[in-house]
Amino acid sequence: MNMGWKQVLTASVLLLCVSSVEGGSNVKKDLFGKLPDGTPVDIYTLSEGPIEVRVTNYGGYLVSLKVPDRNGKSADIVLGFDDLDGYVNNNTHKGTAYLGPIVGRYANRIARGNFTLDGRQYSLAINNGPNALHGGPHGFHQVVWKGRLIPAGIELTYLSKDGEEGYPGNLNVVVRYTLSQGALTIDYSATTDKDTILNLTNHTYFNLKGAGQGDILDHDLILYASRFTWADSNLTPTGELKSVGGTPLDFRKSTRIGERIDSDYEQLRVAGGYDQNFVLDAGGRELAEAAEVYEPSSGRVMRVLTDQPGVQFYTGNFFDGTIKGKNGIAYQRRFGLCLETQHFPDSPNHPEFPTTELEPGQRFHRVTVFGFSTRK
Ligand code: GLA
Repeated sequence: MNMGWKQVLTASVLLLCVSSVEGGSNVKKDLFGKLPDGTPVDIYTLSEGPIEVRVTNYGGYLVSLKVPDRNGKSADIVLGFDDLDGYVNNNTHKGTAYLGPIVGRYANRIARGNFTLDGRQYSLAINNGPNALHGGPHGFHQVVWKGRLIPAGIELTYLSKDGEEGYPGNLNVVVRYTLSQGALTIDYSATTDKDTILNLTNHTYFNLKGAGQGDILDHDLILYASRFTWADSNLTPTGELKSVGGTPLDFRKSTRIGERIDSDYEQLRVAGGYDQNFVLDAGGRELAEAAEVYEPSSGRVMRVLTDQPGVQFYTGNFFDGTIKGKNGIAYQRRFGLCLETQHFPDSPNHPEFPTTELEPGQRFHRVTVFGFSTRK
């Protein structure tokens, strides 16, 4: 049947209405796969011009992120897996690498897994040396979130029940991924029905040459941070905020990551490279520059803005080739870099740090923006 222009127009208007209800023509949902127990998992594709973002509601992983280089050639710049099984199996594998998920309830470390809140002591599962790391063995990276299309992106919600992984309070978490004007925004909010603690981030490993295309030592980095939280040998803060001045942690001026990574400096030695929490100069009060990464061969630039007070800069020091990622490529040491915008590690045990407590009636809200461009 041939449609006349009026019918075509009506059909397009109808389609537009359907897609705007669904959240915009640049977002679509497909089946990603099924979990071992048969639960279906979706994958959402957000596209704007040459940029394409894919996110799954399993763990909220940022599965792929395609951006053009200075010649318009696209590459996927985040480490990950080709299919759902890759993400599921990596989580049961010893030493989960967190290749792109939402991390919570408490991203980063809580010393010895202990904290006190309202006079009560809580003990969390220990999953990283003597510490609790990244929300525990069954953290937010392993749960199925409820997904919904919204304008320019997707919204993931998850109700973390009172006592889950040892944390108090029913915590309702909402994370939105949106793509607009060449930038991916991750917006986190949460409410609770009991006093609790939380620290939410995304744990994506970037490689601006393309995932699997070697290490990130040739990337240039700026960090808008004059101080960092000095860490002990278990990578938990001692409480001291130390100046980056005169140390290999000074990225206030653009510096190649590989230039000083193997310096004989205690904080680098204990972590095997960069794995420190930087105190952002903007202080977590409003959305402000946190970092800028530039990769000279592709010309790709990534700018990171956040209203979080800190950023964990991590260079994938624990990769040893065991994990086979996209296209079967083995991820070797330092094949990706993370800029985990966050509250400081172990804040519940450091009253002098910005608070990570959330009370009933309050709404936690934090935003991080990853902006993409190129230069010569
Ligand atoms: C964070 C930590 C690292 C490591 C990774 C996951 O970045 O700071 O020490 O645990 O997560 O491998």
